[in-house]
Amino acid sequence: MRIDIITVVPDILRSPFEASILQRAIKKGLVQIHLHNLRDYVTDNYKQVDDYQFGGGAGMVMMIEPIDKCISKLKAERDYQEIIYMTPDGERLNQKMSNRLSLQENMIILCGHYKGVDQRVRDHFITKEISIGDYVLSGGELGAAVLCDSIIRLIPGVLGNETSALTDSFQDNLLAPPVYTRPAEYKGWEVPSILTSGNFPKIEAWREQQAYERTQALRPDLLEEE
Ligand code: ADE
Repeated sequence: MRIDIITVVPDILRSPFEASILQRAIKKGLVQIHLHNLRDYVTDNYKQVDDYQFGGGAGMVMMIEPIDKCISKLKAERDYQEIIYMTPDGERLNQKMSNRLSLQENMIILCGHYKGVDQRVRDHFITKEISIGDYVLSGGELGAAVLCDSIIRLIPGVLGNETSALTDSFQDNLLAPPVYTRPAEYKGWEVPSILTSGNFPKIEAWREQQAYERTQALRPDLLEEE
């Protein structure tokens, strides 16, 4: 998989890919991340990427020309299945969306800033608009990092134990059951005895029951999804 991220602040996006699972995925060659500084696609000396909005109003708008230049250059080099725009008014990110995107070969992620991008960018280049939640961030970069993390960990070979992504919360519309590790007793707080019983069918049934009860208590809306 190849992900091209277009941003005016590439520095924000470096560290998420320089540690832990994402770094390992890159080193193994399972994913390539390319950061593109939008200012490199501006011809004027001031490197201006935004301008006042037509009709007046507070806040600057990202201009179409540098975005067009960057996206068009990338599209001339390879096919992209998705060109994603990170924006608070996009479709809310969920596990199903990440699962689907993890099957794509190439995608572009455009990070918005200021008041957002000129609407013509959205109308003519963008195939999908994604929000990571109902709150407004200073820019799309942190959202892009969240999106990339949720996608990349699903690529086969990225996680050591292939089954661990499948048993994540949300994969079957259920929250994950509680987990414990050594010691079996700490300050008098004991691990549920079923987990140390060695009876694996019973352990599995307990976990399923716990997952269901937790979901019903904390996120009953998930049980209503198809
Ligand atoms: N940019 C600003 N806020 C955002 C959000 N909630 N999700 C994605 N991109 C954003």
